[in-house]
Amino acid sequence: KGGIALVNAGKLTTCTHLQFQPFQFNQGAKVVGFDVDVIDLVAKRLGVTQDIIDIDFAPIKSGAVLSSGRCDLAAAGMTITDERRKNIEFSVPYFDATQALLARKGSGLTSLGDVKAKNLKIGAQASTTGLEYVKRKGFDPIEFADSPKELLGLQTGQADVIVQDLPVVATWLKKPDVRAKYEVVAVLDTGERYGIGMKKGNTALSKVVNEVIEGAKADGTYDTIYKKWFGT
Ligand code: ARG
Repeated sequence: KGGIALVNAGKLTTCTHLQFQPFQFNQGAKVVGFDVDVIDLVAKRLGVTQDIIDIDFAPIKSGAVLSSGRCDLAAAGMTITDERRKNIEFSVPYFDATQALLARKGSGLTSLGDVKAKNLKIGAQASTTGLEYVKRKGFDPIEFADSPKELLGLQTGQADVIVQDLPVVATWLKKPDVRAKYEVVAVLDTGERYGIGMKKGNTALSKVVNEVIEGAKADGTYDTIYKKWFGT
């Protein structure tokens, strides 16, 4: 039985939430990134083309777009959590992440405790683990719909500090204008791992996705993708 039997519409449809550089973002009209490259390997393995749909992160992390069959996969730099696992079939982890606290240079801040002590405004991206984390720590964060809006919120002073996945923050800091003014003041070691999401119970597809991820790690393809997007 060919790979096409494992997907809904004769092609591999992936739901994601832009912009989340370097995992998925627009380069001109094209959606590119780390996750896109990983999913490309899956599409090749199945012998189908890849189609990417950009939607909010909330129906991705809830599993709604997977259970409805709108998308075969969800690839969005999405952290595997026990809560999400209830409604999503996750692949093996393909990326390790933590949360970073980004603030203006010279802020003197070194921890979330400092943010609280100074009663500063903290921003986070809606529906994400970073948002949930600071809420659990007792903050009432300003929510931004996506990561570019969150960075803009910091740049315009709407938020004094922001929390976001470290690899995303590291990518922002490659831009000279961001690096000139902002710095990571704390890394919150949340021990997160990203997984590709599938419809709960679709173990036939998750078996293939896991084989692709593990195969790429074993044969050097994963390292090539990593170097392409992180440069080291
Ligand atoms: N890793 C975080 C989470 O799972 C953030 C993911 C946001 N992804 C995105 N493509 N906007 O909650």
